[in-house]
Amino acid sequence: MPHSTYLILHLTGLLFLALAIGGLVTSKTSDNAKTLKILHGVGLFLLLLGGFGMLARLSIGWPFPVWIFVKLFTWFVLGAFPAYQGKLKGNSDLIFAIILILTSIVMGVIKPF
Ligand code: HEM
Repeated sequence: MPHSTYLILHLTGLLFLALAIGGLVTSKTSDNAKTLKILHGVGLFLLLLGGFGMLARLSIGWPFPVWIFVKLFTWFVLGAFPAYQGKLKGNSDLIFAIILILTSIVMGVIKPF
């Protein structure tokens, strides 16, 4: 598959993840709760699929640059979102998720190190 296809998958994953996190913080008990958990998982999967696909197309191999490790770290912590959602003070879970997502976006666009 071409780079652009992996990029579309990657950005679709980002859309799903952000929608799921936004929904999870407000509707834990609603009918949407199960759908949001699935959306969270599918989003994470598409981010990884698109991310590694682009790495292959860009010929970026092992050892990966540091910005990829930063992205993988944010991916892991965002993957655990349902575990700490609602357990932090106030809306810190949502703010924490926004900071992680922004970090990953900056890493992907600027590739600083
Ligand atoms: C929370 C997780 C992530 C978010 C929100 C995210 C978001 C983004 C965004 C917005 C871009 C910019 C796309 C563009 O330049 O048009 C990007 C680029 C990229 N991401 Fe991610 N990403 C995440 C995780 C990952 C992971 C886990 C990997 C690798 C396994 C990865 C690999 C890449 C690569 C290789 C690019 C560069 C694409 C290019 O320059 O052509 N990302 N990411």
